[in-house]
This record gives sequence, C-alpha cells and structure tokens, in this order.
Amino acid sequence: MIGSARAVAGPNIALIKYWGNRGDPALRLAANGSISITLDSLCTEVQITFDESLQADRLRVNGQVADGPSLARTRSFLEQVRRLASLQCHASVESRTNFPIGAGIASSAAAFAALAMASSHAAGLRLELPELSRLARLGSGSACRSIFGGYVEWIAGAAHETSQAEALFPPNHWELVDLIALIDEVHKPVGSTEGHALAPTSPLQPARLADTPRRLEACRHAIRQRDFAALAEVVELDSNMMHAVMLSSTPSLIYWQPATLSVMDLVAHLRRDGAAVCYTIDAGPSVHCLCEPGHAETVSSALAALDGVRRVLRASPGVGARPIDDAD
Ligand code: DP6
Repeated sequence: MIGSARAVAGPNIALIKYWGNRGDPALRLAANGSISITLDSLCTEVQITFDESLQADRLRVNGQVADGPSLARTRSFLEQVRRLASLQCHASVESRTNFPIGAGIASSAAAFAALAMASSHAAGLRLELPELSRLARLGSGSACRSIFGGYVEWIAGAAHETSQAEALFPPNHWELVDLIALIDEVHKPVGSTEGHALAPTSPLQPARLADTPRRLEACRHAIRQRDFAALAEVVELDSNMMHAVMLSSTPSLIYWQPATLSVMDLVAHLRRDGAAVCYTIDAGPSVHCLCEPGHAETVSSALAALDGVRRVLRASPGVGARPIDDAD
C-alpha cells in the first residue's frame, strides 16, 4: 500500500450553465463560463488506496462493484493523477452517495470533486485549490466548481492551465433554498458528456455563447445585491437557452418530460402570486426550484402535490470539497 485518503464533496446547481466544449473534449475546456451554487445536504464520499499489489484500478459505488463506462472514466482520471505524481501503481476507489443515483441529480460533479481531492492526497500531491479545480475538471467539467463552496464561477479559460473555478461569495452570503423536484427518467438518458459534443450542431449555440458574458454579469450582479427578481430572470433565461440548444441539436436532445413543464408552469404561477421562486433544469427531467427560505414551505408543498413529481429534495448553499481525517 502506498497511500490512502478520504474526501467528501457536494453536487452543484448551475445558475449559468456550461454546455459545449472547445478543442479536445477530454480536456473539458468549456465553451462558456458558468456560475453555480455548491449544495449542502447531498454529498459523495470517496475513499482511495493506491496499492502496488493491484493488477488494475477498481471501483465500487455504494457497495456495488462498478465496471463499464464509470470504471473506464475513473481509470482515465486516475491516469492524470499518476502522471502528475509520477506514480505507477493502481488504486481501489470506494464511492458513496447519500442521494439516490439515477434520480436525476448529476452526481459526477460531487464524485469527481471528491475523487480529485482524495486521489491527489493519497498520491502525495499537495495541490492548491485552483490546481485541484483544474484536476477535477478533467473528470467532469462541473466538478471543478464543487471544489469551492457557496457561489462559484468557472472561468472558461482557453487552455488547461487557465480553465478553473473560483469562489464568488461564501455560502452564508445569501441563504437560498434549492427544492429539487425529482421526475422519473422515462427514456434512456443521453449523458452530459455526449450532450456537450452535440452542442456545436445547434444553430442556436453561437447566439447563446455570444450572449453569455452579459448573462454572467447579470447573474453576478443579482447575487451580489441579493436581488431575487433579477436572479430569477437570468437563471430561467439561461436554462431556457441551454434547452433551446439541446432541442435544436442534431440529433435533438429532449430532456423534459410532461411533468417538467408542469413544474415550470407551477413556478410561474407561484411567482405571480408573490413567491420568490424560479426554476432551472440540467441535463435531465428534474427541476431545481430556487427560492428564498421564507417561501420554501409553500413551494415545497405545491411541488409535492403535483402529478409526476416523485419526491422533493431540499438543499442550500454549502461548503466545498474537504478531506476526511480518520478521526472523523
Ligand atoms: C447541464 O459537467 O456533467 O449540468 O464534463 O461531461 O461530466 P461532463 O459534463 P457535466 O455537464 C454539466 C452540464 C449541466 C450544466 C452545468 O452544470 O453547468
């Protein structure tokens, strides 16, 4: 055994979305900058051991041996860590999440943020947070944001050395609530990685990219001022623009289910009735409903009563990836 370490990280919800890469897709150099909130209450914990006696890398997810694409993705990520640390030996990785995998919450951000921290520690690398963010990005683009807590921006950058996230505001700057309305995936989902590759086929992607600096600034400004109406406007516009690109790709990507639209409609009604709530949707049918804490109970009950909503999860801005000591 050479080194062992544990770390934990939360997923994040993008307010301004990353969709599409430039250049080599393996480097995950985002076509545009993005802003997200790192979430508390949901998390992934990773334990890794580099062991000279292993013949190959191994992965277990929630106690089950994983092979196929998730093992291949973990292996290619570990290749980067071995290269950085000039290490030859294989590793065994154990990953646990406290939220249901396949429930429509992107779990790769939390998983690769935790894996980047645990694997670099176990390999003896002492990386500063920006470097750790770049490493996590190689596993999953959005993972670079989960290294940091609170409100986070991923500066797209043009090369590996400049494409990394940074903290904008700490979690307690604005204690918004994210109510996640879980909706069943009826069709076989197309993962984000495949989805990013289709972005350039949409004639709407260039217009979306050209307008991104404006949306990023509107979003930063709304967060800085804690201006919910301004945040709602830019967050819903950004989500709609990304889904317009998805819908107009070849082949077309349609992540929405009928219940997704029901939630969007409900959110519009609740806001008209005075609730500070807005929606944003990632690469799946589930809907993240962001609201001010004072409206969370009303919004949550209304969501839970809607046909097609399986469950409502609740999260708030949380801390970034962190190591777990054996004493914890
Ligand atoms: C719609 O980071 O999951 O959630 O780099 O291939 O792992 P990979 O993609 P991923 O893409 C996230 C897409 C999104 C928007 C976002 O989180 O910014």
